[in-house]
Amino acid sequence: MKTSKELRQLFLDFFSKRGHRIVSSSSLIPSDPSVLFTTAGMQQFKLYYLGEKSPYGKNVCSCQKCFRTSDIDEVGDGRHLTFLEMLGNFSFGGYFKKEAIEWAFEFLFKELKIPIERAYVTVFEGDKEVPPDQESIKIWKRLGISENKIKKSGRKDNFWGPTGKEGPCGPTTEIYIDGVEVWNLVFNEYYQDENGKLSLLPQKGVDTGMGLERLTMVVQNKSSVYETDLFESIIKEIGGSGAITREKGIIADHIKGAVFLIAEDIVPSNLERGYVLRRILRRAIRYGKLLNLPKFFLVPLAQRVIEIYQSVYPELKSKETEILTVIQAEEEKFEKVLSQGLKQFEKISQKGFLSGLEAFHLFDTYGFPLEMTQELAKEKNIKVDLKGFQEAFERHRQISRAGAEKKFGGIGKEATYQATKLHTATHLLHSALRKILGEHVRQMGSDITPARLRFDFSHPKKLTKEEIEKVEALVNEKIKEDLEVKREEMDYQEAIKSGALAFFKEKYPQRVTVYSIGDFSKEICAGPHVKKTSELGTFKIVKEESCGAGVRRIKAILE
Ligand code: GLY
Repeated sequence: MKTSKELRQLFLDFFSKRGHRIVSSSSLIPSDPSVLFTTAGMQQFKLYYLGEKSPYGKNVCSCQKCFRTSDIDEVGDGRHLTFLEMLGNFSFGGYFKKEAIEWAFEFLFKELKIPIERAYVTVFEGDKEVPPDQESIKIWKRLGISENKIKKSGRKDNFWGPTGKEGPCGPTTEIYIDGVEVWNLVFNEYYQDENGKLSLLPQKGVDTGMGLERLTMVVQNKSSVYETDLFESIIKEIGGSGAITREKGIIADHIKGAVFLIAEDIVPSNLERGYVLRRILRRAIRYGKLLNLPKFFLVPLAQRVIEIYQSVYPELKSKETEILTVIQAEEEKFEKVLSQGLKQFEKISQKGFLSGLEAFHLFDTYGFPLEMTQELAKEKNIKVDLKGFQEAFERHRQISRAGAEKKFGGIGKEATYQATKLHTATHLLHSALRKILGEHVRQMGSDITPARLRFDFSHPKKLTKEEIEKVEALVNEKIKEDLEVKREEMDYQEAIKSGALAFFKEKYPQRVTVYSIGDFSKEICAGPHVKKTSELGTFKIVKEESCGAGVRRIKAILE
């Protein structure tokens, strides 16, 4: 029986022999800031579909680490996962449907010898905008797939992409084995813009995705991914009776996801990626409690995850101490409040619903992620007032901000003014980076103290000395021009349409504040800012360094 490790390699070798360059997995943190995680193999190649020249040539293949929360409610069913490895072959203006389908057919049914009787395929049936995919039907038939094994479906099932706000996308043909979707072949012919409008791409592309876990499951003749060698030892470590229950599946999936996220230097927090990590860890801890697992049960499970993957992802082993420490610390933190929180939940859920304030209290005092409260409520068939939760959350945020400003004021008006100046300088820096390095530059994070600014942004390589000088010079030029800083309030959609830069779209309320600096910069931002750029003095970059894959960090001061 083939192991998952062999299958991974067989796939890459198969496509390598057919003219594909093997490209390593990119980070789970993508450089596209409109998405939190890498969810598909094509993401690192997005620009090559649009015509940018690929440094790897036209045809590539990879085994990509992916993390998705879209299927989180299905996790535990033996098919859906948060962390998965995606095998894929890709072409940017090279081959198209014929080769893509023929190779997929050859790999599954000849190379791996999966009996063809176990398979059926689906193709795009066509709609108002995109014609039916007759070509794929023809190719499948020629390969010997009978008419009744070729199912047609619409946008929802047989059209894929884009990832993030915009990008390449197209009709798909999918291969199912034993009723499980195993391989998705996407024919990227279209570009979908921010408003959902499709236009034809200048060149045709292929993007395929096959989850290694599902492939291993069908090749090893198992009825769930948890019975494969990618999960077996984790499930065994969880213990209990032989049956693989949904709870065990969730714990096994979530601990794996957590290990890989922490290996990317993500730590549990209440924001963005850190929040997702916290959410899966705490959900796993709650299910562990339901199964009466001992305290700190996640640590040995994480060790099993590292053992399974260390030969393929050596960074897991080199970061083992850090990974286990983060997991243990989160377990310790949540363990203290979980029982009390659950008691509190029992009490307040008696009345048949949960107010927003109550859900917020569970979050704020007992550390229950909102999704966990919702899950608990669903189990009892009661509703949570989401809007009320968001209002309570927002009110709390404002109160803490006011508190922080008061504290900040306590160290002197001068310090506040310095920080405000640096904040305006950050906007100038962001725009200058986009003008000098390119529009792919996006803010990934920022931190301001009265002494300096720190700005993290997406960019694949180290800045040259010349680039740093150009950025500095452009910011200083804009400071000298004495541009006016203008504040406006508008709807989020309107702000985006007018070209304002946004950080993560999820975070914004419907009405937003937009700050523009002359014609040079426009960003959605809560402020505050100075009135005129001449107040800033001289801008100086003091450090430029890497801070994660595809992310650079600049520290700068005003003199
Ligand atoms: N990019 C194809 C897939 O993820 O299914």
